[in-house]
Amino acid sequence: MAAPEDGLEAWLRYAPLPAEIAKSYPRYLGIVALCESETSPVCTAGKELQDGLKKILGQQVDITNTLNGADELPASTILIGTLNAVPWAAVGKQVIPTLKEDGFWLSARNDGTAAVLIVGQNERGALYGTFEFLMLLAQNKPCPTSYASSPSAPIRWVNQWDNLDGTIERGYGGRSIFFNDGEVLKDLTRVAQYARLMASVRLNGIVVNNVNSHCNLLHPINLRGLGRIADTMRPWGVRIGVALYFDTPQELGGLPTSDPLDSEVVSYWNGVTVQLYQHVPDMLGYLIKANSEGQPGPLTYGRTLADGANMFAKALKPHGDGIVMYRAFVYNHHLDESDWKNDRANAAVEFFDGLDDVFEDNVLVQIKYGPIDFQVREPPSPLLAHQRRTPIILEFQVCQEYLGQQSHLAYLPPLWRTILDFDLRIDGKPSLVRDIASGNRFGWKRSGYAAVVNVGNDTTWLGSHLAMSNLYAYGRYCWDPSSNETSVVQDWTRLSFGGHPTIVNTITELSMESWSVYESYTGNLGIQTLCDIVKTCHYGPSPAAMDGNGWGQWTRADAHAIGMDRTVATGTGNAGQYPPEVATVFENPRTTPEDLLLWFHHVPYTYQLKSGKTVIQHFYDAHYEGAQRAQTFPARWKALRGLIDDKRFEHTAIRLSYQAGHSLIWRDSICTFYYAKCGIPDKHNRVGNHQWRVEAEDMVLSGYKIIPITPFESASKGKAIITDSNRTRGTAKCVVPFPPGKYNIAVNYYDHLGGKSRYQLFLGERLIGDWTGDLEECLLHDFSDLRDGHSATRITFNDIQVERGDVLMIVGTPDGTELAPVDYVSFLPEGIID
Ligand code: GCU
Repeated sequence: MAAPEDGLEAWLRYAPLPAEIAKSYPRYLGIVALCESETSPVCTAGKELQDGLKKILGQQVDITNTLNGADELPASTILIGTLNAVPWAAVGKQVIPTLKEDGFWLSARNDGTAAVLIVGQNERGALYGTFEFLMLLAQNKPCPTSYASSPSAPIRWVNQWDNLDGTIERGYGGRSIFFNDGEVLKDLTRVAQYARLMASVRLNGIVVNNVNSHCNLLHPINLRGLGRIADTMRPWGVRIGVALYFDTPQELGGLPTSDPLDSEVVSYWNGVTVQLYQHVPDMLGYLIKANSEGQPGPLTYGRTLADGANMFAKALKPHGDGIVMYRAFVYNHHLDESDWKNDRANAAVEFFDGLDDVFEDNVLVQIKYGPIDFQVREPPSPLLAHQRRTPIILEFQVCQEYLGQQSHLAYLPPLWRTILDFDLRIDGKPSLVRDIASGNRFGWKRSGYAAVVNVGNDTTWLGSHLAMSNLYAYGRYCWDPSSNETSVVQDWTRLSFGGHPTIVNTITELSMESWSVYESYTGNLGIQTLCDIVKTCHYGPSPAAMDGNGWGQWTRADAHAIGMDRTVATGTGNAGQYPPEVATVFENPRTTPEDLLLWFHHVPYTYQLKSGKTVIQHFYDAHYEGAQRAQTFPARWKALRGLIDDKRFEHTAIRLSYQAGHSLIWRDSICTFYYAKCGIPDKHNRVGNHQWRVEAEDMVLSGYKIIPITPFESASKGKAIITDSNRTRGTAKCVVPFPPGKYNIAVNYYDHLGGKSRYQLFLGERLIGDWTGDLEECLLHDFSDLRDGHSATRITFNDIQVERGDVLMIVGTPDGTELAPVDYVSFLPEGIID
């Protein structure tokens, strides 16, 4: 049996190869890591290689830092160094293709000496080449005789949204590994481990604090702390940057203003910058979220966004290559929905209009992949087509804020692919988004990628083992955005779980299906993830919450029609922000790709799609199909029992079963909501028709009372039961109204914040289930404190024999503000999903 694993090593477990395979490898006699200091990534590479060889091959190999004057590279030696450091006379002349910054060349000699050369364009490149060697070895893939690899873009960065108090905005994997209680943590062990993971997928930078920053970041104690973080990550070739709070001059500096053109403000930031560089001499620069979602910014002081960005840019310039990452996520979140011309998707192009030529040359505009906000599907941001001179950083999200928060499986590369491969046809020329991000399209020297990752201190990093494929893939995609998403997840699976074909096939298939499954049961045809955007948790279904507020994530659904009219002819004009060839496609509902139909068009529910289905029937069918496919996930996962360690098996099994249950809540909420809205029934008569359910409100209640649920679609038939008080238990009973036989009995209930209710489920005298409502602990994320689509969940007890006349009884014991709420019970014969 495999030893339990907690996920901390992620894809760098270096599991031993089977003995007979390990024997087929050369016995390595030495590692030569050509480095001068302990903190050099080349030195790190040497130690990593030593560790990896020991774990994978069981070989103990010594490290030296020079060739000790040998005129030839000894046999069976692995040499790691930079292009400049390698003693070519001893190694022999090699033909190495030109390497870009951070690139590497890897060569397993085929001259019978079993020597290996790992040569980096720089020290970081040498480390990346070493990881490449180790990851090939760990998968028992042959090491090439000559392999050169260079990154698509120099900027391959991570953003963490960590707060100084140790919480993480949109973090679903525990608390911060950087901060606690207002300060940088003393113990930065996890930070070093994170840097190692990042380096292994060639990520070279990180902004360590939340874009919603706080001025206390710049307290002297934290400046020293940031210095320690930088020192910890530097040996892994990872540089750090910080997110700044625009009003720091006033709030921390005591100045009367934070106006970017005020000379005192300018010298304040110059001073801050000098201090930061004292602690972090290789700082990446500043990430700025300004005039966005209530954050102050230059517009607050009547200045332009460029005035704000340039102030920081000039402060950075004297110190090296630091840049300003100025976020394009600037919009008014009090937009008036009654004005059909208003459109948040227009904001970035409007706010950045005319600024392309006026930014300092060390300002980069950081642009989220879509015009709104990390939705399950969006077109690329139109701003990507407007930056010619000022380079961009394309922002993705590895943490699954709108994609199930790591409690639903969603392997993201297929989503990223829709953006990266999109051809914006700028000036009528091929303009793939990935060629814009790489800098190739407009000849930028520095540009690339950032992703909001938000790992936490849980040993799983992201809260779910399977979610880690997204972090791994993010690195691979930054390096090579044309990577194949299937082979990336296969590599990741072999490294993380092992190479058994059942493991690789199962995880690959589940992962490759997962985004489309999630899209099917959350938001179709480009309507966005139909979750609650008002209560801020962005998780469960709440389609009404999309409209009726100023956030501008509108669907404009009424009784007859749905979707945003973003055409130039009759709508917000957003389609016209794209270059003409693309604009023409988006302007017409018949040419708009159907998976973005409702993004660009307001159409009747009866609008006919190419499939012949109406929009509303497509909604119903997609939600039913998606939820049905999600039901297969836990069953398919079972194939891995015994093939991987039990600990990770169970951890994942719990999440996949939870997801299967929550996908039904999504399905029912969305279908019920739109059916109520438009009154058009489901052709297949499924919506609102659940023949295997017993509603809790129809049971015989004692100590329980019936309540309406808001929003109504978050409960079957709009109602649920809660205990009379938070001190007394309640019981709900019914005679099972179905024929005798074997059933999977599912209980739908609400597990919200505020308490941990206990439940017992009896069939006659038999206790068939006993559980606690503690999902918030188990799944590590902030559900709501209400009975709604976030907290609605299901637990299932399989293969229960029911006899005629059996009485089912639920005993609910409330806790705190959680009053053991129950929605319904389903009796599901084998193969039935309800
Ligand atoms: C989203 C997210 C916020 C975040 C913001 C941003 O709106 O929900 O938590 O602060 O994006 O990217 O700045």
